[in-house]
Amino acid sequence: MKKNLVLGVSGGIAVYKALEIVSLLVKRDINVNVIMTESATKFVTPLSFQSLSQNMVTCDMFSEPKAWEIQHISLAEKADLFLVAPATANIIGKVANGIADDMLSTTIMATKAKVIFAPAMNTNMYENPIVQENIKKLKSFGYEFIDPAEGRLACGTSGKGKLESPEIIVDKVLMELNKDKDLLNKNVVVTAGPTIAPVDPVRFITNRSTGKMGYAIAKEARNRGANVTLISGPTSIAAPRDITVINVSTNEEMKNEVTNIFDEADIVIKSAAVADYKPKNYSTQKIKKSDGELCIEFIRDNDILAELGSKKKNQILVGFAAESQELKDNAMSKLQRKNLDYIVANDITASDTGFASEDNKVIILSKEGKEIYLDKMSKEKIATNLFDIILEKR
Ligand SMILES: Cc1cc2nc3c(=O)[nH]c(=O)nc-3n(C[C@H](O)[C@H](O)[C@H](O)COP(=O)(O)O)c2cc1C
Repeated sequence: MKKNLVLGVSGGIAVYKALEIVSLLVKRDINVNVIMTESATKFVTPLSFQSLSQNMVTCDMFSEPKAWEIQHISLAEKADLFLVAPATANIIGKVANGIADDMLSTTIMATKAKVIFAPAMNTNMYENPIVQENIKKLKSFGYEFIDPAEGRLACGTSGKGKLESPEIIVDKVLMELNKDKDLLNKNVVVTAGPTIAPVDPVRFITNRSTGKMGYAIAKEARNRGANVTLISGPTSIAAPRDITVINVSTNEEMKNEVTNIFDEADIVIKSAAVADYKPKNYSTQKIKKSDGELCIEFIRDNDILAELGSKKKNQILVGFAAESQELKDNAMSKLQRKNLDYIVANDITASDTGFASEDNKVIILSKEGKEIYLDKMSKEKIATNLFDIILEKR
């Protein structure tokens, strides 16, 4: 069943970012009901939130009810979680002082769900002792806050007060909504991204992996309560919160890092696209351009997955197989050869899934012979399914 988030949107310049929050949450199958303050509707129309959330947007407490239910009570009860983003100084002040004079403040007052505020305002407003006192008071009652970031604000000044990025806010929401915490205190190690094989001080070979799949897996494990270590090749993705990130470049570095923590790991998911070959001789000087052809001899590099498979004790070891032909057979043979528990196989010939794409379409095979076909879906949803399968929830 879908989880329900009630999103309160109050009237600041960052309202447009709340649209991105709704869009990201809907993509993750969260049902979002938006309540806007009257001021918020001056910045963005309810229609935009309605279109993205696919739900009616509530603004006015005294409008004709669509069904015979008192809306602020029904939304307050329906909420698995309540997020206010952006949260103005005004809404923070009202809730802190027990004022319930519009739909948003009244519903917050009536809910038993956890309420998280993501404030956004001019730095002077944010630093005003009255606002800080209100925040302190709300925290003492169990309300939570996602602190604003520092940066250039819409009013032209710089400082603390910028709404935290939609990605970080959504991450926090997903962490909260995932109440089962079915990986609590488990040590999960994920590898992600490509590795590079240097040829000379300026050149290297690498592959097209962006790391998106591995980062999605690491975040999903964190959201389920795991202690996550992400060993990442070079990517352009920002380090996720509450995850230990170890940056590496080469196959050798990745092997050393993952081997170091393998004994303490409960689950190891090797989604990195590790180079299979490296130049036989690394040139310490830049190879000079010449008229003739350049031949570089490549030798096999470490097969990290096979080495982990041979050392495995109680760990659950999961590999990835990017194949361009005979997907299932090749993946099954890799699973058996390398002593894996699961393998996630994807067909890299499809142009709209796989490397650099937002989506993936995979088959997950288990050593017991389970075959689960996942249709094209976001890498985040693949990550959710993968852990459901590992934890035998499907
Ligand atoms: C252009 C503009 C931008 C504003 N931006 C913010 C803001 O970022 N944060 C804030 O707390 N108030 C901001 N305000 C002031 C709020 O809109 C005002 O305090 C209002 O009463 C808030 O109402 P609400 O909390 O019911 O949405 C802004 C006002 C204007 C006109």
